[in-house]
Amino acid sequence: MDPIQIESGQRYLTRINPKRIPHIFTDVLIIGGGIAGSRAALQIDPRLETIIVNKGKVTQSNSAYAQGGIAGVLDPLDDISNHIEDTLAAGKDLCNRELVEHVCHAAPRHIRELIEYGADFDKQDGKLALTKEGGHSHRRVAHALGDATGKELMRALVLAVENRPSIQTWTKTPTLDLVTEDGKCRGAIIWNRYHGKTLIWAKQVILATGGAGCLFRETTNPPLATGDGHALAFRAGALLQDMEFMQFHPTVLYIAGGARYLISEAVRGEGAYLRDSNGVRFMSEYHPDLELAHRDVVSRAITDRMLKTNHSCVYLDLTHLKRSLIKERFPNISEVCASFGLDLSRDQIPVRPGAHYMIGGVKTDLEARTSVPHLWAAGEVTSTGLHGSNRLASNSLLEGLIFGAAAGKGASAAALSQPDQFSASLLPEWDSEKRSDEDLNSDDLRNSLASLMWRDVGITRSAESLRDAKEKVDFWSRYVVNREFKTLSGWELQNMLLVAQLMIASAIERRESRGVHYRSDFPETDAAFQKHISVIADSRK
Ligand code: SIN
Repeated sequence: MDPIQIESGQRYLTRINPKRIPHIFTDVLIIGGGIAGSRAALQIDPRLETIIVNKGKVTQSNSAYAQGGIAGVLDPLDDISNHIEDTLAAGKDLCNRELVEHVCHAAPRHIRELIEYGADFDKQDGKLALTKEGGHSHRRVAHALGDATGKELMRALVLAVENRPSIQTWTKTPTLDLVTEDGKCRGAIIWNRYHGKTLIWAKQVILATGGAGCLFRETTNPPLATGDGHALAFRAGALLQDMEFMQFHPTVLYIAGGARYLISEAVRGEGAYLRDSNGVRFMSEYHPDLELAHRDVVSRAITDRMLKTNHSCVYLDLTHLKRSLIKERFPNISEVCASFGLDLSRDQIPVRPGAHYMIGGVKTDLEARTSVPHLWAAGEVTSTGLHGSNRLASNSLLEGLIFGAAAGKGASAAALSQPDQFSASLLPEWDSEKRSDEDLNSDDLRNSLASLMWRDVGITRSAESLRDAKEKVDFWSRYVVNREFKTLSGWELQNMLLVAQLMIASAIERRESRGVHYRSDFPETDAAFQKHISVIADSRK
């Protein structure tokens, strides 16, 4: 199927005068310092200069927020073929089998390598402790710090990165756009807190910017997950696919005034029940796998139950589990709940679903190559075909790790064989007149967008809701896209509107239900749609 051509609006978010801004030269530029970006950096030959630019702090990423763990066959009673089959079953006939096999085979080696980098996984009787999550036929999820796996893995990787003198990490440095010339990626325009707009020229660029959960009102993601990488790759001409597939996590803490904190699926993996507001354990009415059915099933069941009971949430019940197990396995969740006066051995946790993981993204191959020469990508910003239409829990840190390493390897080899070729003649000119952002309240629009996406492009969609969403997002985009913002929140808003357009166009096109994409007007899976929907910027503009 041909990609849907979508008008990208302006090619670059801001004007720059190349003679008036600082220029930096490096061999490899990595945009994003989560698990994919950090792992990529460690794969770059130390003879090359590498810069990692991070929009926020290294602790503010979906990688660092990850609770449950990382999946891989580490138990002799399990088998790699089981991990492969579980991943394929979750993906509902849309996974790339060759790639799934590659990832599941590589998983144990990459997890052991993390241990060599210093990651301290939880142990039981001297062996790695393994838990279970929805869709896994065996206990195969390694975890750390009880329920803060991402924090521990990032600690180890960031330390390893800091020990490499050839790598510099710049935090609080958002990227505005990738710079392309003749269709090839040459670097990026970034915002530096001392010098403002700055051009970084790089022989090879790796995109590892993470997800887009903040497009939705309810989300487990940190505030920085605004789909920037998706948007800037799209503007640079990259092919994106599967943009209709946003995975909703079934259990997000729902307390008025409190942050939407993830309550890990591992809680259900250790035996917690889901109950409605009448105390009924309801999952048996929806799926034989009960609380450990695939996430899309559990999220829809919860939404249905909230409607039927006319209540704003359901409840996770751990009260039948041992107090010591709860404290030991879920120390952070227990602490957060305690801060709202909830004692998990006595009280139930109010939860409802929220946007969690962006399955769609920049299309990449087994070597993490994108469709744009000199641009590589890894992690949540990509669509590798591993997840199909529904990601199996705890396969995402794994994907970031494996394709981060692949991107680093590819970019490193390419940069080593590439001569320095930076010259003023490569400098693009941007001189178009743009309207300023002065009369626009970007926060207000951002909230309206997140509410609209949650209502119309959320867990259940239909032709009507998608048409409504398209109309509004197109209208907002018309007066936002061609302005020149001076603040991060403005650039984020422009990126979010663009990514919303890509999600909506893809969701309209997929006239069936599959995995995380549920259309109330097409509730069945249709074999005619066993294919990827891709999007690309309209080159006629
Ligand atoms: C969780 O802990 O439930 C999240 C794990 C994941 O999304 O893979």
